[in-house]
Amino acid sequence: MADKIKVGVIGLGRISSLHLPAYKPESNINAELVSICDSSRKKRKNIAAEYHIDSNHVYKDYKDLLSDNTIDAVEILTPHHLHHEMTIQAAKSGKHISLQKVPAMTLSEMDDMINVTKSNDVKFRVFENFRFYEPYMKTMELIQNGVIGEVDRVDYSMLGGISLLGSWSVPLMAWKWRISEKSNYRSPNVWDDGYHKHSIIAWFLPDKIESVLAWQGAYRIKGVIPVDTPTVIIYSCKNKSKYGVWNISMHDHVPMKNKYYGCDEFVKVVGSKGLIMIPGCTGSLYEGCEDGGIKEGVHWVGKNGVWKSDLNVDTDWASSFLNCSRAFIEGIRNDTEIPLIPEEARYILKIGLAILSSVRNGFREVKLKEIKDGIIKGHNYIEPSVGETEDIEKDTKISKDTEQDDIENGT
Ligand SMILES: NC(=O)c1ccc[n+]([C@@H]2O[C@H](COP(=O)([O-])OP(=O)(O)OC[C@H]3O[C@@H](n4cnc5c(N)ncnc54)[C@H](O)[C@@H]3O)[C@@H](O)[C@H]2O)c1
Repeated sequence: MADKIKVGVIGLGRISSLHLPAYKPESNINAELVSICDSSRKKRKNIAAEYHIDSNHVYKDYKDLLSDNTIDAVEILTPHHLHHEMTIQAAKSGKHISLQKVPAMTLSEMDDMINVTKSNDVKFRVFENFRFYEPYMKTMELIQNGVIGEVDRVDYSMLGGISLLGSWSVPLMAWKWRISEKSNYRSPNVWDDGYHKHSIIAWFLPDKIESVLAWQGAYRIKGVIPVDTPTVIIYSCKNKSKYGVWNISMHDHVPMKNKYYGCDEFVKVVGSKGLIMIPGCTGSLYEGCEDGGIKEGVHWVGKNGVWKSDLNVDTDWASSFLNCSRAFIEGIRNDTEIPLIPEEARYILKIGLAILSSVRNGFREVKLKEIKDGIIKGHNYIEPSVGETEDIEKDTKISKDTEQDDIENGT
């Protein structure tokens, strides 16, 4: 193995801005970025300039990047419906693979990827950075040390806003595929971002999740574009006293400053002897909270009723990306398993499919064992309304040509 792992990145969109810095010298990672690929000329040009990528290693077609013999590993950061094919081709090219969540649209796609990566003897992990977010890692350590006894309940609360005091600008192209059925089951929150939430709830609970039950209301961005919130999901284990809840809503305005997406999270983990609270994650809702207000970090109380806090954990969401990338590189170097390992990633995927099955089948409780491949289409199945994506495309004059570059929507 070469001194440094040589990495290629496919997909230079919004989230690549938190992946690529891992390969800057100051990140001290045992890897270097040598190849990049995107269908957008502008993105290729900008990133190649910023990361000093040799023009011979800048690709429009991902298959050309995969036949680049200088690279050992690839990061795949593209819309979900492309993950299956890109991962299969990457495995066949002998590259180790870090694939952004959501890994696949169906279990059979996931199984194909698991089989082909195994038969080609390459590392395959799903990039789930929330498991590398320090406050959540500290929480897991407290749980494993028995500080709060056995976990009974995980409350995951999430708040998003259309207008904030400050947040990322997300290109409209990054929204477009998220509200399409083919790429994302029209579920930017529940399917896409939800993967992290299912993952964290499943991680903190002591037993496997057996069933899910969803409720969904209705909210339209700027009164027009329908999104999949508000939604409340109950995740229950076989022992029904062990459960998780994810409650997500979006609002016209949230008075929050944020370096990243316009949302933030708050988690409470309740055990038989105590509880843990983790305010903040993606966002900075509590920034500037003074006079004894809520501080980002980890707060817990055990059986003796004495509250403790760890305010030294790194609460910057971006650090979870760096930690997650570092784990990939170290896993390749040391030939160890890299979270999320494929079987765990498949379990989380199944939870997501069960939730959408609940949403589309009259909000009934769905057992994970009912999921055989994709979303269940039972007799109560309601197909999401069609035409909305096309209307948005028309309204915003997005060209079908992916060379056309980012129209900012100013969120
Ligand atoms: N871990 C997280 O917190 C997090 C956050 C956001 C996004 N994501 C994931 O990252 C992935 C990308 O999301 P994003 O927000 O950056 O999306 P995006 O739309 O901003 O970027 C996708 C990029 O892929 C490129 N692309 C599309 N088809 C291509 C092809 N055939 N060949 C080469 N390039 C192609 C597009 O031009 C675009 O630059 C998704 O899997 C998403 O779920 C994860």
